[in-house]
Amino acid sequence: MRVSFFIAFGTIRFMHYIDIHNEIRNWYRRNGRDELPWRQTDDPYKIYISEMMLQQTQVKTVLERYYFPFLKRFPTLQSVAEASLDEVLYAWQGLGYYRRARYIHETAKIAAPDLPTDVESLVKLPGIGQSTAHAVAVFSTHAPVAVLDANVKRILYRFFAKERTTPKELWQMADTLLDREHPYEYNQAMMDIGAMVCLPKAPKCDTCPLSSRCQGKEDPLKYPAKKAKKSRKSVVTHYLWIEKAEKILMIKRHGELLGGLYELPAVEVAPEGLKPIAQIVHDYTHFRRIAKIYRLENDAVEGEWIEKKRLDEIAVSSLEKKIFKALGIGD
Ligand code: ADE
Repeated sequence: MRVSFFIAFGTIRFMHYIDIHNEIRNWYRRNGRDELPWRQTDDPYKIYISEMMLQQTQVKTVLERYYFPFLKRFPTLQSVAEASLDEVLYAWQGLGYYRRARYIHETAKIAAPDLPTDVESLVKLPGIGQSTAHAVAVFSTHAPVAVLDANVKRILYRFFAKERTTPKELWQMADTLLDREHPYEYNQAMMDIGAMVCLPKAPKCDTCPLSSRCQGKEDPLKYPAKKAKKSRKSVVTHYLWIEKAEKILMIKRHGELLGGLYELPAVEVAPEGLKPIAQIVHDYTHFRRIAKIYRLENDAVEGEWIEKKRLDEIAVSSLEKKIFKALGIGD
């Protein structure tokens, strides 16, 4: 019925991939990760939280450490809206890219009690881009839209044998290949195929459900063209460990990058005559931080005194967690 409709209007591109759609669906039924908890619900809020977490964090980490505790603490969008930003950041700590937690809080304040499920309303909310909006819409209501995460992009580059494209062209490719009859399974399958089959360095083309029509399968590593590797810069930062009566001096950050999180006071120049009590190497996406920590008696620095035994009750970044651990504090 649907097919003849498209043919009648000359839009045969949609039926063009019926064979591939069947292959993908069959593959998903046999191999898909449908046990993932965000695939066991149609609650747009839970799907949204999973998508925000999965934007920059691996499935394993989200699954094992963050998804359930976050939803236990914040079971509904309304509960996020009623909480302070500090509370949301606290539940997010360690996940990195804290801007995501701030966006969730802002979104909750705007949209509570319920997250919308249509793409047009979703993309208007802070921090929800086209792909996340599509993911929430398709996974909660089976809307016929394509998700375009990094894994899916790699499949598309290879399937259409493109070494480079523009974002617009990528969306066109995603839209062309989309299975509009079964968008839910198609999109979940594409993410799984990207994560399990169409791997960056060792694609398993012989088990890939797209291989019969994949234009890049003769030389998959050619697609997409490799970007010139930028060398990661190293930055040395000197942190102060100022302790008084079982309390530590910490500073609450403001601004975009790690706003809302507590950190140790930092100085540009190493304190004179002191040797670091610990040194930590911490990698971010674009640079490496070498953190040197110095114990100081002086308390001329402005900040908040946090009881040592309460350090695990404030939101801190992974770097601070590493520092605490190196100094034998907490778990
Ligand atoms: N990454 C983003 N969304 C995902 C999903 N629904 N399943 C697995 N990985 C994902």
